This record gives sequence, structure tokens and C-alpha cells, in this order.
Amino acid sequence: MIDNKHLVLGIESSCDETAAAVVAGGREILSNIVASQTEIHRKYGGVVPELASREHLRQIVPVVREAIEQANITLRDVDAVAVTQGPGLVGALLVGVTYGKVLATSLGKPLIAVNHLEGHVHAVLLEARAANREPQFPAICLIVSGGHTILYYVKAEPANGAEHFAYTKIGGTRDDAAGEAYDKVARMLAFGYPGGPIIDRLAPYGNPQAVRFSDPRMRGNPHDFSFSGIKTAVLHHIRSNPQLESEIEVRHRALTRGERTGDALRALSSAATLDLLASFQHSVVSNLVSQTFSALGDYPARSIFVSGGVAANSELRRAFETESARRGIGVFFPSRALSTDNAAMIAAAGYAHLMAGDRADSTLNAEANLPLA
Ligand code: KG4
Ligand code: ZN
Repeated sequence: MIDNKHLVLGIESSCDETAAAVVAGGREILSNIVASQTEIHRKYGGVVPELASREHLRQIVPVVREAIEQANITLRDVDAVAVTQGPGLVGALLVGVTYGKVLATSLGKPLIAVNHLEGHVHAVLLEARAANREPQFPAICLIVSGGHTILYYVKAEPANGAEHFAYTKIGGTRDDAAGEAYDKVARMLAFGYPGGPIIDRLAPYGNPQAVRFSDPRMRGNPHDFSFSGIKTAVLHHIRSNPQLESEIEVRHRALTRGERTGDALRALSSAATLDLLASFQHSVVSNLVSQTFSALGDYPARSIFVSGGVAANSELRRAFETESARRGIGVFFPSRALSTDNAAMIAAAGYAHLMAGDRADSTLNAEANLPLA
């Protein structure tokens, strides 16, 4: 057991991962357990809210127990319980919020409410600090996942002598999140669910310039995103290429037989399909990078943060690194494990709130649309 460092138990259940973690002093991850429901939602091609809540109910107790055991502590050693209040699926959030409340009350320890999106910001900080890199503020943070594509301006504004951040929303998606576009395109082309990892794996085999997608045109906030147009453009491209349609049938049968590895699906994909994947990914990544860096004009920042499931994407990481180096600005990503939903990021965000004196009470409720700013 570690002395002089507050131990925060984080609990996360906003979407399809039941997660619990113990973090010491807001920096040191003692355990980080994630029970993913991907297998359950796979056959529906997306997260089914009712199934997610039911699975969280089954998993929450064993997942928290495992987080405590792996951290080599007992529940009594925990100094605070931090739980995701929102945003997310309300039934899923309720499981974590209710369990967190019960645990904090029965242990007589503080309960801390954490915004899931702030958790993604802390995932970046956790990773940077583990590598002894201290990001400079203000930062522009792109949170890009299956549920979100949002840009925040993050300023460090210590409160009560503790670390505290102030957030301003720069822009967000008008329609689909980027990860959702990955998932929908993979579904249309019969590459299975989730779409991001398989497209990431296969895109390097195609020509990213083969299919041209036009940039979304939008009125209003120039910092907003839109990904429904490219999804529709992919659909039109498939419809106008009968060869692509027949391959989809073949891959669909392979998926039904459980053949879903990158190699198996690549062997069932022509150059035209791989070109389409590469072009789709290139277009999405270019848009995310250009929207993030163009925000610097209105929001001068000293660092760029990229977090959320899509931040695991190889081309996205390379493109952000190249552009950051060109502009001489630091870019920070979480590791792949901290990019996707996890509870270490919730515990780290909870630690900052604990130090700042923030407390939730037994009236805490899940909020599906909880804004960060
Ligand atoms: O953050 P996350 O685990 O859950 C949400 O809050 O949505 O993100 C999951 C999303 C999915 O849409 C998945 O397809 C996408 O992140 N994703 C990726 C990659 N890995 C996961 N997208 C692109 N490339 C990846 N390597
Ligand atoms: Zn998330």
C-alpha cells in the first residue's frame, strides 16, 4: 500500500465497457480493469442500450473486485470513489452511479462525480506524466470516439491550490461521430464491428488518393465537424460498383462463419475495396487534423491533445505528429489502452476534483447529456 498518496477508485459504465481502476496520487495506475461488451453487441453492428445496461449489472461487482485485488489493496484503503456521471447511455450510466454511491456511502468515503469527457482529457495527462512529459497549457483537446467528436480549449486554472481545468467548447459534430462513421462504413462493406480497428489495419494496403471525397460544407461555426456526408458518399460509391457489392456478400458469409481476422478479410478484398477503405480513412483523418489545427487561429494553444477510441488510429497519430512537428507544438495521445473507455482516466479526473474539494452526495444522478462546457 502506497503512503501519502490518495487512492481513488474510478468506476466507468457510460457505454459498452464496464471498467474500474485504482489510481494513486492522480498519476500512478495501480490497476485498470475493463470488461468489454464488444462480443455482445457485434451481431447488431453497434451498441444496444438495453443489453449494455444488463451486462454492466452483471459485470460491475466482479470488475470492481478485480481492480481492488490487482491494486493489492482492500476497499477500506480507498480514499474516494469517482464515478462517471455522464454523458452516455442513461441505463448504462445508472449502474455505475448507483454502485458508486452505495460503495462510497458504505465505506464512509467521498463520492466524486466525473464528466466522461473530462476523463478523456485526463487520459492524456496520465500518459504524458507517466512518461515524465508535462504538457503546456492552454491546450486544444480533440475527443474523438464512437460517441463524440468534440474540440475543447483547456486552460489550467488551479482551484484551492489544486489542479483544475476550465473548458470551452470550440466545436463538435453536427451529425455522426468519427468513430460512428468508421463503424457504419465497416458495416456497409461487411468488415464487422467495431469498424475502426479493422479499417486501420487494412487501409495501408489501399491507395488513399483513389477515391475523392469532398469536404463537408457547413454554415455557422467553422470549427464544427460532419461525417454523415462521407458515409453517404461511400454508400453511393458501393452502389455504383457492382464488383464491390459481390465482395460484400462473400465477406458477409465469412463473418458469419467467424472469420474476422485482418488477414482473412484482406484476402476477401479487392484492390478497389482496399482503395475505398484507404480513401475513407485518409479523408476522415485529414479532416480531423485540419479542423484541430485550424482552431489554433481562434484559440492559441501550446499543446494538442487527442483522446478517445479513434485516437488509437495509426494514420491519425502519424498525421498529428507530422503536423505538430511542422508547427513546433507538442502533441499528446494516451496509449491505446487509455484511448478507449477506461476507469483510470475517471479516477485521475476524480483525484483532481477530490483535491479541489468537490464532492457529490446521495442525490447524484446519471445525466445522459451532461455537457463539459
Ligand atoms: O472511446 P471508445 O472506446 O468508446 C466510445 O466512447 O465511443 O471508442 C470506440 C470507437 C469505435 O467507433 C471504434 O470503431 C473506434 O473508436 N476505434 C477506432 C480504432 N480503434 C477504435 N477508430 C479508428 N481506428 C482505430 N484504430
Ligand atoms: Zn469515451
